[in-house]
Amino acid sequence: MPAGPVATHDWKRYVDAAPPGAIAEFGCFDGGSARILATLGRPVFAFDTFDGIPAADFRAGEDAENPPGKFRPSAPPWRLFEQHPNVYPVVGRYAETLPTLAGLRFAFVYIDCDLYESYRQVLEYAVPRLDGDVFMCDDYGCTGAKRAVDEWLRQHPEWTFDGRSVFTRRPLVLCSKCKATLTPAEAAVAPPQPPASNHRA
Ligand SMILES: C[S@@+](CC[C@H](N)C(=O)[O-])C[C@H]1O[C@@H](n2cnc3c(N)ncnc32)[C@H](O)[C@@H]1O
Repeated sequence: MPAGPVATHDWKRYVDAAPPGAIAEFGCFDGGSARILATLGRPVFAFDTFDGIPAADFRAGEDAENPPGKFRPSAPPWRLFEQHPNVYPVVGRYAETLPTLAGLRFAFVYIDCDLYESYRQVLEYAVPRLDGDVFMCDDYGCTGAKRAVDEWLRQHPEWTFDGRSVFTRRPLVLCSKCKATLTPAEAAVAPPQPPASNHRA
């Protein structure tokens, strides 16, 4: 969870640059960030237990700073988003909800779900459903989340990580449809610069 102000201008920049489609947020707590994302003019799928950190996905040790029950919201989802009809809460543990939603696609993904196991599940689910070239993770400073991201990155070298919170697809993959026309040297040069972000890692 951001310690300081959320860099909403970064979200707007990435969302405005993304292809048409929905935003997905994984980890919503009291709906603050989802309500901000909802102002960007797209449907927002808001994935959370809406009952706090789930015990079944918590690992003592690496997830210790985010114990079960933390982030229990102050109101039910319908009330959190009653002024934002474009927010669609997906209520439940990811292990239970994600397998039921195979058909969704997203233009931009924001992940803020803290735990190793939650990150592992969300990355596996969300990135293959991402039509845009950028997703953002909040929790690289959490031990478990960092491990999940690092493991995922090792398995997906086509993605680059800007060292903070922003992930951008490597040019080779950006150009995958015309890869055959590029020499390896051409494909390797001039990687797109990740947009500067002041979003906390
Ligand atoms: C740090 S809070 C999100 C804060 C929110 N993005 C904000 O900025 O206001 C993390 C959220 O992740 C959710 N979460 C973590 N693991 C989950 C899981 N496996 N399934 C569903 N929700 C999960 C918790 O319920 C919690 O609300």
